[in-house]
Amino acid sequence: MTEALSAEIDVLPEVRETLKRPQLLIIGDHEVAAHSGETFDTLNPSTGSLLARVAHADRDDVDDAVRIARAALEGSWRMVTASERGRLLNKLADLIDAQAGELAQLESLDNGTPVGVTRNGLLPGVAAHFRYFAGWADKIDGTTIDTGMPGMSVQLQREPVGVVAAIVPWNFPLTMATWKIAPALAAGCTVILKPAEQTPLTALALGRLALEAGIPPGVLQVLPGLGETAGAALVEHPGVDKIAFTGSVEVGQAISRVAVGTMKRVSLELGGKSPSIIMADADINLAIASAASGIFFNSGQVCSAGSRLLVQSSVFDDVINGIVGAAEQIRVGSAFDPATTMGPLISSEQVDRVSGYVELGRGDGGRVLTGGTATNPNGFYYQPTVVVDAPATSRIVREEIFGPVVVAQPFESIESLADKANDSPFGLAAAIFTRDARNSHHLSRILKAGSVWVNCYGYVHPAVPFGGFKMSGAGRDGGRESLDQYLETKAIWTNYAW
Ligand code: NAI
Ligand code: MG
Repeated sequence: MTEALSAEIDVLPEVRETLKRPQLLIIGDHEVAAHSGETFDTLNPSTGSLLARVAHADRDDVDDAVRIARAALEGSWRMVTASERGRLLNKLADLIDAQAGELAQLESLDNGTPVGVTRNGLLPGVAAHFRYFAGWADKIDGTTIDTGMPGMSVQLQREPVGVVAAIVPWNFPLTMATWKIAPALAAGCTVILKPAEQTPLTALALGRLALEAGIPPGVLQVLPGLGETAGAALVEHPGVDKIAFTGSVEVGQAISRVAVGTMKRVSLELGGKSPSIIMADADINLAIASAASGIFFNSGQVCSAGSRLLVQSSVFDDVINGIVGAAEQIRVGSAFDPATTMGPLISSEQVDRVSGYVELGRGDGGRVLTGGTATNPNGFYYQPTVVVDAPATSRIVREEIFGPVVVAQPFESIESLADKANDSPFGLAAAIFTRDARNSHHLSRILKAGSVWVNCYGYVHPAVPFGGFKMSGAGRDGGRESLDQYLETKAIWTNYAW
């Protein structure tokens, strides 16, 4: 912990205590240093200062964790009844609720999301996600099939897929971890969580809470570390049965290539370049407010961010003026300043990446109507940015920026719109703003996207599957579909007429 924290930021005493303790790996029911003794630094993006040094897991630590995860899978966790699994997940949800204040502060110190948003917008969803999957734990059943073969019974049995490595990003650290852990544990799997190197702190807190809830040691272990060390070791390890990943397309592809070697199951939630479509008949104020929050929420560091704005020509100027106005209302600042409505980006690398895209867009003829600048040398801040006139081929229009940058394009008619909206390698989400149900029904059928929001943006719920078409990934988080990804199906053929 640094003096900078005590001087600048008002946090709960529990959070100060947490930051004072060594941030170690959670293996079995122990908190241990890495075999190598190595650590890495996690920073506070609101100030750029050091928040904590964290044990850096590598191959030997992964070996330990996988061995213990497998022993728990076949032993202590298997002995726990399905309804008891549900009870334990509910207990964990209760502990999360009870400590939501501390968890939110720790998370916002680590990732820069305004603390009120983390506390009131995100933490309740984390607990709700555990509760939803707690309800599934004792409702996983099989079926029988009538093959018509005399003397033969066929029974389908669902079994946990095994040891799961959950590799998650920094934009919503607890939420992303929970989206993997909750269904995996409900299904009876064991999980090794590898948080992003930028945001390891709440993952460790969650690991400690799971033990406190009474979840047996080895069922949820936490291995902070870099992607190329801890992450890669998990992906290569033959004792890991499944990788559940959220992050960049490049890493998702790399993981898939390696995982095929041992035919690990892989589910991927990758990036997006999701369109917000505003028809001339829309409620324009609703559309402006929703589309603005669709791109600027969490500083644009959202896989489903509405980073392409497609606006019907007759209302283009009004909508763009409205979005620019919304951008200029935003107060960019520290996650712990109550006046802040948009926090910093996660890192200086991310600021460079975002400003690099904006410069590329300018070079391609794009006009920056507002924003386009990094601010405040002490934190990782970037102004909300609106770009028009960039050609459809420009990288600023095609690639995921993962920052508060929206590129706007006009369209003439609904006929020309669908091709434009689907003209992306990604297919994570889309939003349609219209008062005409014919438009929304027509478009929601033809849009290639895993989530389509009509007259709203960004809703998620534990019961509703979330994930991507095309390059945005494979598999779904949330809902029954998510649970299925942590189960194998076994067909048992019994000849009862031998
Ligand atoms: P990343 O994909 O490198 O990181 C995500 C997770 O993967 C982290 O836990 C990281 O440690 C791990 N990882 C990295 N390399 C790995 C490897 N070789 N094997 C196993 N695990 C590995 O993403 P990064 O670098 O943090 O962000 C870069 C860009 O990725 C962003 O600008 C954004 O476009 C995209 N991204 C998308 C996210 C989403 O929610 N879909 C989340 C985070 C980033
Ligand atoms: Mg951090």
